[in-house]
Amino acid sequence: MKGFYEKLDVYIDELENKKDDYKVLSFVLDELGYLPDDVLAYVSKKLDIFPFSLEGTIKFYPKLQKARVKHYVQICVGRNCNQPGLKEKLNELREKINFPIEERHCLGRCAKASNLKVNEEYYSYKTLEDLEKLLLNLK
Ligand code: FES
Repeated sequence: MKGFYEKLDVYIDELENKKDDYKVLSFVLDELGYLPDDVLAYVSKKLDIFPFSLEGTIKFYPKLQKARVKHYVQICVGRNCNQPGLKEKLNELREKINFPIEERHCLGRCAKASNLKVNEEYYSYKTLEDLEKLLLNLK
């Protein structure tokens, strides 16, 4: 992470507008794939911008909002993907993992059911146990 902060400092130093938090957040996203809390705190200090102002920018741009968590999970609960006990399994998993699971009614991959999407990657699973393993093993 040390190398990352050095790169971030250089990027910010070269910015024409030192208050352009969108550009800085996009840089963080490109480098890390998500927006960790400690990096946001660092950016807030470095740009001299209040944390709530930074959160406002994140909320304004869907691309940034999805990246607020490391794993943005969308699971299909549509007709082709739903399995008996899926809702209960999702509630159980929500207790065990520290990222949100959003339910969708179709991910456009019905032929490969059952489906979920983690960030920009699609996955298929056969049983609820497979689903649990997959989500618990996300790093
Ligand atoms: S119903 Fe699940 S991908 Fe279409």
